[in-house]
Amino acid sequence: MRDLPIGFLDSGFGGLTVVKESLKQLPNESIIYIGDSARAPYGSRPLSEVRQYTKQLTAFLMEKGIKMLVIACNTGTAATLKELRREMPIPVVGVIHAGSRAAIKVTENQQIGVIGTKGTVESHLYQKVIDAKENNMTVHERAVPRFVPIVEEQRINDAETMHIINEDLQPLKENNVDTLVLGCTHYPLLRNQIQRVMGEHVILIDSGAEAINEVSTLLDYFNLGRSSDDNQKNSATQAYYTTGDGEDFAHFTRQWLNQPDLTVQEVVIRGDEIIDYSNEK
Ligand code: DGL
Repeated sequence: MRDLPIGFLDSGFGGLTVVKESLKQLPNESIIYIGDSARAPYGSRPLSEVRQYTKQLTAFLMEKGIKMLVIACNTGTAATLKELRREMPIPVVGVIHAGSRAAIKVTENQQIGVIGTKGTVESHLYQKVIDAKENNMTVHERAVPRFVPIVEEQRINDAETMHIINEDLQPLKENNVDTLVLGCTHYPLLRNQIQRVMGEHVILIDSGAEAINEVSTLLDYFNLGRSSDDNQKNSATQAYYTTGDGEDFAHFTRQWLNQPDLTVQEVVIRGDEIIDYSNEK
């Protein structure tokens, strides 16, 4: 069991920001990742649909064999965390609770901004989690649906991108937030631009990176971690799958994770199932 990988899922590239943190903090752990690029973005879909897709991705990872599941997607977390925690025989980690805790810890003026997809913001899960922990915080939630397509279409460095980010974050600047939760795992890919717009005095919280602290705690608690000797590190594996275009996904992933030899396997959505045909050859 301890040698099994940790499973990560997202609608596309976003969860790779969480994987990057896992590779940094937990280098002995093997990982397996699936991005549902064929159906991204999830953020503007009804949560019932996001729930259905997230469960399909989970079933795919379970079939491969994982010891822990990270829903490396805020929208997926809002839609399914409770249910998956109830149903799954392994520990399930979402990204919203960890991000909320971190924001409470660092804010000094109790004005917390949260940016996320329409689905995440309309679920008000950040607001609820923060309120349940600390009742003197004001949470300013804002959906910024233009951000995910910028990442998925790899327009991060376009001139227009800075303009969009500036426009969409203005209300939060007016709210005088001193802490801003990046409540979508795609947003750390726009971190520099977001920081520039908000100003250096605003602390950005990466919800996905915070979730890896939780993964680390749970690995210890359930005695599921691989040991930290060098042999284990060398034998840790990584596998990447996408429902979208494999080459495109590989190109992005190689750059982001700085691993020029990394490969990505394309998988196919058939009805309610996600199938890896490379396994059946
Ligand atoms: N990265 C995901 C999130 O954290 C989903 C973004 C999307 O597909 O809209 O919410």
